[in-house]
Amino acid sequence: MNNTSDTSQLVQVYDRAFEPMIPAEEIRLRVIAMAEEISTDYTTKNPLVIAVLNGAFIFAADLLRALDFDPEIAFIKLSSYQKMATTGEIRELIGLDRELEGRDVLIIEDIIDTGHTIAHLHNTLISQKAGSIAIATLLLKTGVYGYDVPLRYVGFEIPNRFVVGYGLDYEGYGRSLPGIFVLHEG
Ligand code: IMP
Ligand code: MG
Repeated sequence: MNNTSDTSQLVQVYDRAFEPMIPAEEIRLRVIAMAEEISTDYTTKNPLVIAVLNGAFIFAADLLRALDFDPEIAFIKLSSYQKMATTGEIRELIGLDRELEGRDVLIIEDIIDTGHTIAHLHNTLISQKAGSIAIATLLLKTGVYGYDVPLRYVGFEIPNRFVVGYGLDYEGYGRSLPGIFVLHEG
């Protein structure tokens, strides 16, 4: 899959080429397994699920429909990225309008890289007195995450490379690709 000399599988996203990394079917199966785990863990609870826009919109849609219960869902829009690098500065674009005190909160993220975004959100939820906070992320970049905030549900650990697809974008493009694709170096 990561054979850089095979250019037949490359897809063009905006001005860069990307190569296949995780096929759509593998994601589908993993998302179902994560949903089963979450369904079991929350059987006796009434969690507020917070999906982090934009990147998590496809993961959230698939994950939530695979749960065996119908949770209350909210959306928050955060952004720390410009082009292909994190700025370290989180801009909160759309805030939360729910009462969080005592609620069991489940955050749905697309990818955790440095963790700046999730740590910022985690702090916000703690300051609003959430009863419990758990994180579900489809992707985690290995060796980059620098916070103590536990990541309870992780779909795939991936190398520290730039990826697109299944909701993740490069310059606004690539989100609708059904699989995950990694930047082609070369
Ligand atoms: P962090 O704050 O460094 O953990 O970055 C997290 C956010 O940056 C994610 O929610 C994504 O929106 C974005 N991001 C991080 N890595 C990538 C990537 O490889 N491709 C696309 N977006 C990414
Ligand atoms: Mg994101």
